[in-house]
Amino acid sequence: CGIVGYIGHRDAYPIIIEGLKRLEYRGYDSAGIALYDGKTLNVSKTKGKVSDLEARVEAEITKQGTVGIGHTRWATHGVPNDVNSHPHTSNSGDLVIIHNGIIENYESLKQELTTRGYTFKSDTDTEVLVNLIEDVKQQENVKLGQAVQIALNQVIGAYAIAVFDKNKPEEVVVARLGSPLAIGIGQNDNEFFIASDASPFLEYTKDAVYLEDEEMAIVSRKKGVKVRKIKDDSLVPTYVQKLQLNLEQIEKGGYEHFMLKEIHEQPKAIRDTYRGRLLRNEAIIKMAGVEDNMKKFLNANRFVIVACGTSWHAGLVAEYIFEDLARIPVEVEYASEFRYRNPVINENDVVIAISQSGETADTLAAIKLAKSKGAFVFGVCNVVGSSIARETNAGAYTHAGPEIGVASTKAFTTQITVLTLMALRLARAKGTISSSDFRKYLLELEMIPKKVEKSLESDAHIKIISDIYKDSRNCLYLGRGYNFPVALEGALKLKEISYIHAEGYPAAEMKHGPIALIDENMPIVVIATKKGHYEKVVSNIQEIKSRKGNIIGIVTEGDVQVKTLADHVIEVPETLEFLTPLLTTIPLQLLSYHIAVMLDKNVDQPRNLAKSVTVE
Ligand code: G6P
Repeated sequence: CGIVGYIGHRDAYPIIIEGLKRLEYRGYDSAGIALYDGKTLNVSKTKGKVSDLEARVEAEITKQGTVGIGHTRWATHGVPNDVNSHPHTSNSGDLVIIHNGIIENYESLKQELTTRGYTFKSDTDTEVLVNLIEDVKQQENVKLGQAVQIALNQVIGAYAIAVFDKNKPEEVVVARLGSPLAIGIGQNDNEFFIASDASPFLEYTKDAVYLEDEEMAIVSRKKGVKVRKIKDDSLVPTYVQKLQLNLEQIEKGGYEHFMLKEIHEQPKAIRDTYRGRLLRNEAIIKMAGVEDNMKKFLNANRFVIVACGTSWHAGLVAEYIFEDLARIPVEVEYASEFRYRNPVINENDVVIAISQSGETADTLAAIKLAKSKGAFVFGVCNVVGSSIARETNAGAYTHAGPEIGVASTKAFTTQITVLTLMALRLARAKGTISSSDFRKYLLELEMIPKKVEKSLESDAHIKIISDIYKDSRNCLYLGRGYNFPVALEGALKLKEISYIHAEGYPAAEMKHGPIALIDENMPIVVIATKKGHYEKVVSNIQEIKSRKGNIIGIVTEGDVQVKTLADHVIEVPETLEFLTPLLTTIPLQLLSYHIAVMLDKNVDQPRNLAKSVTVE
């Protein structure tokens, strides 16, 4: 989501609207604004784009006011509709808030507030937060800033918020934990801008204060910016930064392309995916969509996974995980094939549809067909409220955040994360893994974001390898077991953005055909991590070597054997076998990215491809 706020002497409306348009890349399913005109607090919000909001404001409220906040939403809780859009007001109508992030314990907070007589109009975690702040403010009889500080100490989750009180419109309180928040210091006195990144206020000022995690600030027309620690309310010296970046660089978070930004977002995206679901201390996995339908899952004869493209590859990884951990038979189908081949499917089947966009026409059609045959259909989508999310009987969102680059990266790893959580939950319910293994697996899953970060550190090394092979006409990707789908995904990434022909193959199948292609001009990427048929893959590497192929090995840290055989190796940290795809995918994304950049291709919008394919 994107947030914008203004407090000063100018009209807040045009500043906020233009700012929201700049932030639309962060989320685009609904938008809203709150302005205080000196007498009343006017709130207007709508499903849709910022341009829809402008039309709504024209019809609904006055545009007056020198203090205001605005939001462009990318839904995480509750479908995108008018009521769930931000800003949200408190029960008294005095406080108004915008929020970016997820409040994990919102259900228990909501229950407590309900017993105190609070009522809720929306399904959002944000409306709970604004009422919690109001409740604290009244109970403790404190100022807004302090109420926010106390309330946030009761909150588990991630947020960037901006909130103000219509009875005290000379200040706006902001806070951050896990979601970015910048405050622009106006060139004229007593004027401040608030935003998720600096792009909304770049034309007004280059002086900015960036809040750190666990910090809040009181932004006051008269007293300026005061930064405090949320934990103990202690004062933090305000550090004003001079911005050097231009608009485009800011939108891409300083990265050259959205794809690169999204590759680097994966540690956070994976964490966001298991946040609130993986409760290690209690040794449980909590997923409402699975919990509510546990019987269906446990009684199923088999799972049938339907998807397209990269999501289909995530489905293949899931096949290995479900079968291995939960001992449930799984079939993975291209949605486009499934829908047209009169599949044998009935009410004893669970169909899992995977889709980043939630709009892919073939996947949607496959779901409708499965439903008509009586199957229970579960969706794994990234876009909240998308067609597939609505059409399925239940589901789990990936929480990867908007993916702008056409070639999918963080959507893939977060899909695998959700499917892993499901497999672990079902394995526990079925008793196919022991409780001590379960605990061990949860611990290791929580280490993955750090290990992804470590894998990203090979970037410079991968760039050198990319330069050597960028002019290749063909490329082969090999992997076994859990890493066979990763080989397919690596090849797809290279094809999609660099237009080099690439094929993924199960390593052992190489000798049944692709081996004929191998000569000194053929680069071959081999995923050869420890565990998972390592010795067998090493034999495959020897077969390639004796035919003069160029080998790029993806290996476990500290590997010696492959290192002596391969032309290059890229290391990833060690992890459990079923979690290796989350790490081995990373260097393959970077390899294709760098090759495409070196070949001067349009990385974020490759020719002929679309982000969401709504035709069959
Ligand atoms: C398009 C995109 C791919 C994506 C596929 C499936 O082809 O370019 O990146 O994997 O559609 O999309 P979905 O949104 O259903 O995951």
